[in-house]
Amino acid sequence: MEENAPAAPPTEQLSEEVAKLLAGHITIQGAEFAYPVVIQPGALTNVLPDFVRARGFKRCAVISNTTVGPLYGESLVAQLPGAFLITVPDGEQHKTLDTVRTIYDQMFAAGADRATLVIGLGGGVIGDMAGFVAATFMRGVAYIQAPTSLLAMVDASLGGKVGVDMPQGKNLVGAFKDPLAVIEDTATLKTLPEVEFQCGMAEAIKHGFLADATLLDHLRKHGPEPIDDVLRQAVLVKKHVVEQDRLESGMRAYLNLGHTFGHAIEQASGYSYKHGQGVAIGMAAAVHLAARRGLCDPGLVEDVEVTLIEAGLPVRYADLNPGDLWEAMGTDKKWRDGQARFVLIKAVGEPVIVSDVTRDEVIAVLEEVRE
Ligand SMILES: NC(=O)c1ccc[n+]([C@@H]2O[C@H](COP(=O)([O-])OP(=O)(O)OC[C@H]3O[C@@H](n4cnc5c(N)ncnc54)[C@H](O)[C@@H]3O)[C@@H](O)[C@H]2O)c1
Ligand SMILES: [Zn+2]
Repeated sequence: MEENAPAAPPTEQLSEEVAKLLAGHITIQGAEFAYPVVIQPGALTNVLPDFVRARGFKRCAVISNTTVGPLYGESLVAQLPGAFLITVPDGEQHKTLDTVRTIYDQMFAAGADRATLVIGLGGGVIGDMAGFVAATFMRGVAYIQAPTSLLAMVDASLGGKVGVDMPQGKNLVGAFKDPLAVIEDTATLKTLPEVEFQCGMAEAIKHGFLADATLLDHLRKHGPEPIDDVLRQAVLVKKHVVEQDRLESGMRAYLNLGHTFGHAIEQASGYSYKHGQGVAIGMAAAVHLAARRGLCDPGLVEDVEVTLIEAGLPVRYADLNPGDLWEAMGTDKKWRDGQARFVLIKAVGEPVIVSDVTRDEVIAVLEEVRE
């Protein structure tokens, strides 16, 4: 095969029928990339197979895990041309180069080549890892994200960041790989464990405080129902950010609201706090810090905490020591030149980055959000 043969035919070849299926979708568009994000119950059946056929793929590797594969993988494979299922163990601890290697092996064994389409079917762990495989297998093949967790639908599947964890830290090896499409079948959320749904809501709420007061209003009045509408609003926030700053040189950093504190809580607890729970407590901490510095109205603290609590999320941590959390923050890759950088909010839609925060201030805030 020619070294630089395109991995997929261009979008103009989409049939009218598929164009109709995609009607109303969101497009994520930058200078060098554009892909649809379809948010629809039943999209794995109603949209994905036709989309794949219209793009002319004849071979598809569906990468999933031992939880999601049996639920949705087998029926998806049955609807796709030349498809085979690769199932890896479930869990963040398997988001490694070792697992990636077993995926390459299975791709070769199944006769995959540069024209093979990779589909990541699962939560953010699968999306990141399948995307990394797509970015590297034979120097890169086409990729579709089919996220099935709320967190992956709101956040992980959008923006092109893919990768794996290393013993030295999370997400330390990876690539930017834009998908051909992100197909979010919201019917799959029915089987998602409640705590995972809550974790996804933490990121959706984060998007609300960063940029969308109407999303917060909706959550106050109706909770996360209908989820398709909530998701659409939250996805639009991430769309605007990644379109303007794909490589995280500037405003994409705002998406780290709550994450500096959150990662420390996750890490220091030995990951007994899930990511979304860490982010929720981290957002509470961030707004406490903003209030302490006089950057925001004290009412915002309550606003953030009530919104999180109503979504079933924690805003206080237990059984961890503030000093240990401070230490854990030092290993976060979001610290530049040893400077602590925190994303804070002054008001809904007004994030700000501060980098002159002292240890004493951080400890004081960590005392405030301790149970
Ligand atoms: N690339 C990015 O920009 C980005 C952004 C945020 C997070 N992430 C990554 O995403 C990962 C976290 O994603 P996550 O929260 O989805 O975790 P996850 O992938 O581990 O999924 C959580 C659990 O839910 C299960 N699950 C998923 N969908 C299901 C369904 N429909 N029914 C039943 N069970 C289902 C999974 O098998 C898993 O057990 C982390 O590795 C994080 O680094 C990446
Ligand atoms: Zn996050």
